[in-house]
Amino acid sequence: MNLKDLYIDFFISKGHKQIPSAPVVPENDPSVLFNTAGMQPLIPYLMGQPHPYGTRLVDYQKCIRTNDLDSIGDKTHHTFFEMLGNWSLGDYFKEESINYSFEFLTKVLNIPINKLAVTVFKGEGNIPRDDVSAKVWKSLGIKEDRIAYLGKEDNFWIAGDSGPCGPDTEIFYFRSDDEIPQKFDPKDDRWVEIWNNVFMEFYKDNNGKITELPKKNVDTGMGYERVVAVLEGVTDNYLSSVWIDIVRKIEELSNYSYEENPASIRIIADHIRTAIFILGDEAGIKPSNTDQGYILRRLIRRAIRHAKKLEITDNNWEVIIANMIIEKYQKYYPELVKNKNVILDELTKEKNKFDKTLAKGLKEFEKITNHLDDNVLNKDLAFKLYDTYGFPIELTVELAKEKGIEVDQLGFKEKFKAHQELSRTASSGKFKGGLAGDSEKEIKYHTATHLLNAALKVVVNKNIHQKGSNITSERMRFDFSCDHKLTDEEKQKTEQLVNKWISEGLNVTVMEMSKEQALKSGAECMFIEKYPDIVTVYSIGDISKELCGGPHVKNTKELGNFKIIKEEASSAGVRRIKAILE
Ligand code: SER
Repeated sequence: MNLKDLYIDFFISKGHKQIPSAPVVPENDPSVLFNTAGMQPLIPYLMGQPHPYGTRLVDYQKCIRTNDLDSIGDKTHHTFFEMLGNWSLGDYFKEESINYSFEFLTKVLNIPINKLAVTVFKGEGNIPRDDVSAKVWKSLGIKEDRIAYLGKEDNFWIAGDSGPCGPDTEIFYFRSDDEIPQKFDPKDDRWVEIWNNVFMEFYKDNNGKITELPKKNVDTGMGYERVVAVLEGVTDNYLSSVWIDIVRKIEELSNYSYEENPASIRIIADHIRTAIFILGDEAGIKPSNTDQGYILRRLIRRAIRHAKKLEITDNNWEVIIANMIIEKYQKYYPELVKNKNVILDELTKEKNKFDKTLAKGLKEFEKITNHLDDNVLNKDLAFKLYDTYGFPIELTVELAKEKGIEVDQLGFKEKFKAHQELSRTASSGKFKGGLAGDSEKEIKYHTATHLLNAALKVVVNKNIHQKGSNITSERMRFDFSCDHKLTDEEKQKTEQLVNKWISEGLNVTVMEMSKEQALKSGAECMFIEKYPDIVTVYSIGDISKELCGGPHVKNTKELGNFKIIKEEASSAGVRRIKAILE
């Protein structure tokens, strides 16, 4: 029996009502383009509004996350995924929730208890350690050695910056044939997280203030694709029963085996599946140049480009794959059958449209990139590829990366937004700043990259230089020259210094000057050739001065808390930091 059916049946037997998956496009929540977690459509109820189905709910929810398209192509990431979840709205709390999870895993899925381990909130700030959860786990036979106590970063859950939140306990499964260590180490990646039980006791407002919720709730989430792979004993999700027949079909349609080109095959499978779910949704999204429609367009076009890479020649390939996927999911998502014609029509229409310009655009891309002086594709050329040949910026970046070329993405973004606003204004007859929320966050990240650049020079080495950066409304990525992996101490000190500067409330000022003057004044710049003769220089207090087109915040105190979430190699001699503002 399918994991979804087992899950739903189990929680129904425990007095839960099944609620249908909400549409992928949130109905009353303009803060996100897509539902990214099972709890998202339930936020009003988690905050106290009575739910028409009662206080015990269970579902499988369509979720879409497109903030990290770069990682699609590896073994475990997907843009669309299903999340199994059960909720208590002011009904049961920690003890029953943990008991249910344990019973489902050990009695229904028959997972031996020795393969399980858990993390529990260790207490931080004014929120105490979650002793209740630890006690319940122990009473069920989980050994003390298999309980790890972690801080806010790991065991406190919130969707985004504000909303209902609370400590969580996460359940891990040992996915390996190796001997199972007695002691659980959450950093050992043989232990895979399979379930997250959040105990929502609090509400965090936009200013970061935490208050108690009127009723305590439980919100659990289990990633379907991951758990199926775990249960089937494969480490590559695409080799599990969720994907394998689609992977085989793409192999058959192409000239390459999965072993030869797994990334392109995964990208096609993943992106077409997500496109089907967006097109099949009741919200009626079609490929376009704004918001959800643009994400849809990007996904389809990226899939088309990879189909070309795999030399797929069958003119009907997208329909063949889409039909397989729809058939696979129709039992659970009847809207896919209802909207099947729209899905297939739109996929084909978008393919035909892009097929017309893709070959010409690729030729143009080759021409442009063979004549670059500085290995940087400027915003005007990137915009030309977008505007004339329909290349989404991510596609240009992906192509450029394959040739070791950088793209001025920030410059492109500004141009793109100005263009979008113009066409919106033209089509609606009025100005509409629909992306304001997004860009505000991006502006903050932009200022944070300057602070990070300056901090690395102080903490690590004064000769560090920026090699690239990429900003979304969710995070920043910063590449810099450096000959070693940063030590924990270096990371910590860098983070502290950036936060110190933020808390000092430094003013951000801008000045226009000639390029020579700017360089003489010691302003930092990435590629001097790229800038016009008169440049703008942004200074932050007296700690940073950079040639830059902006925009930036006015004062560093607007940024919030700066946190490094990852430091890794980017290419030879270049390190990459991913960081967030909370
Ligand atoms: N909201 C939590 C998560 O997404 C549990 O459902 O992991």
